[in-house]
Amino acid sequence: MKYARIAGTGGQLPAKVVTNADLEKIVETSHDWIVERTGIHQRHIASDNETTCSLAEQAARKAMSAAGVKGSEIDLIIVATTTPDRIFPSAACLLQQRLDIHGCAAFDVQAVCTGFVYALSIADKFIRTGAASCVLVVGAETLSRILDWTDRKTCVLFGDGAGAVILKASDEPGIISSHLHADGQYKDLLTVNAGVSEHSELLKSGRAFVQMAGNEVFKMAVNTLGDIVDETLSANGLSKADIDWLVPHQANIRIINATAKKLQISMDRVVTTVAHHGNTSAASIPLALDVAVRDGRIKRGETILFEAFGGGFTWGSVLMKF
Ligand code: UT7
Repeated sequence: MKYARIAGTGGQLPAKVVTNADLEKIVETSHDWIVERTGIHQRHIASDNETTCSLAEQAARKAMSAAGVKGSEIDLIIVATTTPDRIFPSAACLLQQRLDIHGCAAFDVQAVCTGFVYALSIADKFIRTGAASCVLVVGAETLSRILDWTDRKTCVLFGDGAGAVILKASDEPGIISSHLHADGQYKDLLTVNAGVSEHSELLKSGRAFVQMAGNEVFKMAVNTLGDIVDETLSANGLSKADIDWLVPHQANIRIINATAKKLQISMDRVVTTVAHHGNTSAASIPLALDVAVRDGRIKRGETILFEAFGGGFTWGSVLMKF
């Protein structure tokens, strides 16, 4: 049986940077509040001519180049997104067209901030079973399009971007294990309460916005991410000391600190981008991975733990050797 191994990474952020000082001008907030409660200093926001798929395309091209892979070699495309360009076709099909790839399977995964972890886990199964051998996995979002820019409780938190990896079949590990969970009973704590089939009037009138019971989500995230660390280690008979890098979903530096503490890993072994990217939902983990691979921190053979928590609720982890 083959392992799924990351052969290359890529990331793309919109050029436009919105600082906390910029937000002070549009909602009643302060740089100090945002930094103290979230760790965020700035975020990148898509311009009118940038979309989830245009960001995904640039990230994918960089990952393909890093992996030395041509479009014709890719036999599966998975895009994790909550903010696709169109209701249909999927972002994965639109990305396939942009990359001039034809015929391979392409589909989206919707697990909000846990989307990239879900997508990696699915890609791993395709590779392990021999159904695919070279998979493009992308996390891409333009959350800014569904933010209420008058709501200080949400608009300061999110940013736009895309991250991508090429996963190839290999005799060497590779993804070791993945652990996915969801509990829809919490559907109303973090939601955009509008869609095609329910409250479509909100969608049509441009009032489909992210709503979050921040404090309740925060507490659940801290507890659940602590549990998923234990679950992942015990499933593999590993101890905390076996983890070289934690690459967490970037929602809030306080949540990341709590998970690092649970893992007894020092913060210099934790990749954090939340200060500069904000919360980019499904894009946050592949963006953080790309930063740490390109600056030389993460090296071949090291053991990485990815973990995420998001709307649904969904949560999960992937343990891998890079
Ligand atoms: O990615 C998916 C998962 N998402 C998350 O994990 C996010 C989880 N939640 C959080 O990160 C935090 O709950 C927040 C950063 C959203 C909020 O931090 P908090 O420490 O939980 O603050 P809070 O919601 O309890 O609000 C505290 C106070 C409130 O004022 P009162 O009621 O105490 O007078 C808020 O109205 O802070 C106020 N507040 C703000 N003040 C200045 C809320 N937003 C802001 C703001 N600027 N932007």
